[in-house]
Amino acid sequence: MASAPLLAQHGEAAALKGRTYFVRTFGCQMNLHDAERVSGLLDSCGCLPVSTPEEADLVVFMTCCVREKADTRLYGQVSSMVSAPEPPCGRRVVAIGGCIAQRDGERIRESMPNVDVVFGTSAIASLPAMAAQAFSADAGGLAVDTIEQGRGFATDLPSRRELSYHAWVPIMTGCNNFCTYCIVPYVRGRERSRGMEDVLSECERLVSDGVREICLLGQNVNSYGRDLYGDTRFAELLRRVGQTGVDRIRFTSSHPKDLSHETILAMAETPAVCDQLHLAVQSGSTRILKAMNRRYGRDDYLSLVDDVRAVMPGIALSTDIIVGFPGEGEQDFEDTLSLVREVGFASAFTFKYSRRAGTPAAGIADDTPESVIDDRYERLADLVQDLSRAHNELSRGRLVEVLVEGRSRKEDMLVGHSTQNQTVHFPCPTDMAWEDLVGKLVCVRVGEVRSWYLRGEMEGEPR
Ligand code: 5AD
Ligand code: SF4
Repeated sequence: MASAPLLAQHGEAAALKGRTYFVRTFGCQMNLHDAERVSGLLDSCGCLPVSTPEEADLVVFMTCCVREKADTRLYGQVSSMVSAPEPPCGRRVVAIGGCIAQRDGERIRESMPNVDVVFGTSAIASLPAMAAQAFSADAGGLAVDTIEQGRGFATDLPSRRELSYHAWVPIMTGCNNFCTYCIVPYVRGRERSRGMEDVLSECERLVSDGVREICLLGQNVNSYGRDLYGDTRFAELLRRVGQTGVDRIRFTSSHPKDLSHETILAMAETPAVCDQLHLAVQSGSTRILKAMNRRYGRDDYLSLVDDVRAVMPGIALSTDIIVGFPGEGEQDFEDTLSLVREVGFASAFTFKYSRRAGTPAAGIADDTPESVIDDRYERLADLVQDLSRAHNELSRGRLVEVLVEGRSRKEDMLVGHSTQNQTVHFPCPTDMAWEDLVGKLVCVRVGEVRSWYLRGEMEGEPR
């Protein structure tokens, strides 16, 4: 299928009008953002969102293949659609997007025979046409579009943001790093950056729509621009996004080997950039880092952290860590624990190594018992929890700025995130309506501290 144009201008919109849809998302922020584009596109065709897959004529799964767990959950959920009650229009169409769609293409039918539409990571714009076709009476086959060639970003697609005050902005996709455990470069392809003017005009539009926080997205944002301009332009991009007047800027993910001093300075000198940095370390053992093809050692990482803290002393650092990479011994794991302690991460995502077919590490034999890996995982999780608590303790008694997201689920409290990405709960002041505070920046004096959240009282006026 040729590059699909904007659907709303085409007949497919009429075929989808009035159909109900539901989008379920697995995996990373890039998928969350792609799901927003899918919803926006379906909205523009007159489809109606519903809150469960059972009520939906069209069920879209945005998939992830980074770890096996998401794979398994997906198969279960897709298969359960077979026995789900008939949808309002009498025929349910199941569409699979995201990384598994890109990786498996038509092979998806071998494991999930009830799938009708497969659209790859560059083929979001093709979804409506393929779904319309699948709804038509003579359909019954599988429609597949996993073409990448010649397709850039689907930036001309509408997007339905889940939150009015927050937006994801993709700046690059793909990855050239080939970490030996990781499937991403095989699925999402090589690094492709989005033009700087394109990114900036989207940011300006978002700011004029009332967005307060922008998160710049990419598999490796620090190498932004290398493919387009011959050298990396991430530092310049940060400064220019800062000039749009947005209140908060975050970005993810950063590869330590590509985080330049210039970028560190741009972060420090751009007031909107949050005092928080996610910098995936993966392991604290130089030997394992080499086997992972990370292209830095333990000492390189630690000195990078020193550089960051020399410029931004109070910054909150977070990370990703893989436990149980093939060949990881007790000493390697101890090295990870000691690095985590030494850096004092504010938070960390921890993962058990998941073997991904087709990656170099999948071929490394390893006889470490599962119980040993479970034990290491628990020890690391305990340490991370202690460190999060210690980090949060630093906020006790202080004022933190919170972007208010809404009411917290359990209690009659408002919830939001601080600039350091801490979850903060606080009661709504009695003279204010909570709805009026959503999307506002407020100051909260922290009174209570836990590992996973802070609690306090609002002070001053919202802005
Ligand atoms: N097994 C476990 N964790 C993985 N990650 C990527 N690939 C794997 C894998 N095969 C983790 C890394 C990465 C994060 C997004 O997912 O820590 O930073
Ligand atoms: Fe995967 Fe490594 Fe690229 Fe991250 S940098 S997407 S872990 S290959």
